[in-house]
Amino acid sequence: MEKRDTLRSEAKAFIHQYYQETEQSGFEHRWSEIEHQIQETGTYTHFYEELDYGGKLAWRNSNRCVGRLFWKTLKTLDKRSVSTASDFREALIQHIQTAETRTKIRSTITVFAPLNSNQGSEFRIKNYTLLMYAGYEKGSKIIGDPKNIAFTKHCESLGWKGDCSHFDLLPVVYSMNDGPEQWFEIPRNHVSEVDIHHPEYPWFATLGLKWYKLPIISFMSLNIGGIVYPAAPFNGWYMLDEIATRNFGDEQRYNMLPTIAEQLGLDLTSPFWKEKALTVLSEAVYFSFEAAHATIVDRHSAVEQFMKFMGQEGQAGRDVTGDWSWLIPPNASSTTAIFHTEMKDELKFPNFV
Ligand code: ARG
Repeated sequence: MEKRDTLRSEAKAFIHQYYQETEQSGFEHRWSEIEHQIQETGTYTHFYEELDYGGKLAWRNSNRCVGRLFWKTLKTLDKRSVSTASDFREALIQHIQTAETRTKIRSTITVFAPLNSNQGSEFRIKNYTLLMYAGYEKGSKIIGDPKNIAFTKHCESLGWKGDCSHFDLLPVVYSMNDGPEQWFEIPRNHVSEVDIHHPEYPWFATLGLKWYKLPIISFMSLNIGGIVYPAAPFNGWYMLDEIATRNFGDEQRYNMLPTIAEQLGLDLTSPFWKEKALTVLSEAVYFSFEAAHATIVDRHSAVEQFMKFMGQEGQAGRDVTGDWSWLIPPNASSTTAIFHTEMKDELKFPNFV
């Protein structure tokens, strides 16, 4: 099929879905307008409402996301006309400020110019997430987040330099109109982090752990009705296991379980020390986030919400697709209902790719 024909059919499917689900009349009129635009220019421009609904659908279709019950609450910041590096930086800071209110986290997406548009510059963000901690290899010792060692080296090759602490915030690396990579640092005073302590164990705070409040995925592009937005960072809030079980618990990440077990005086020859240490670590992360009024969801609540989402979708006559291996919590999985639920991992659009 011709590129234009593909775009036509993807656009039509989305616009049709948009009019149908939002129960509006006027599909025929809008469609002929878009068809005309595609014919004349090879592309078309979404109205704000379409962009906003398309982003919500992309979330609803995200097979790896357990938090999809809240898909309708996504807030869209339309930055399609941003064309300079300084406005790009401003927009990302505005994203953080919008997402983070004093009492809770708000799911937010910032959408920059699509491919082949004549308005705004084409930005691409190289970070996996906008906020990340650097990782350094110093001889046989590792400082910071081992997952980001390669990316940290890359940042250094671009001229960035960190403090070599366990929690250096990496810069945002991006390109503009396929130009050379550039970077900037998000000022630390714009980034809220939570110091991790445990309500029962005073020694926990001395481990010096902390984590940022916002998981903002930034490496994916958003595809709505055949239009590709290469820079469309979006955030929800953390599920407890992401930070506690994986980021702090994984051996190839911060690997905190042995230290915590030691502090707890656990018997390392028993086969249960990891589970015990993991529970204390989970409590610490959970209560610290709660105390800081940063939204976080524990694994059981997250799964209950997901099951509710499945029910809602079923009622609306839609099939929920999902990637089971990503949806089950990595800890105590079989105590949650998703473990016992079958689902198809099919890619539906709009989506993030
Ligand atoms: N797992 C990633 C991290 O620990 C974040 C992925 C997105 N998570 C989310 N709750 N939206 O940084």
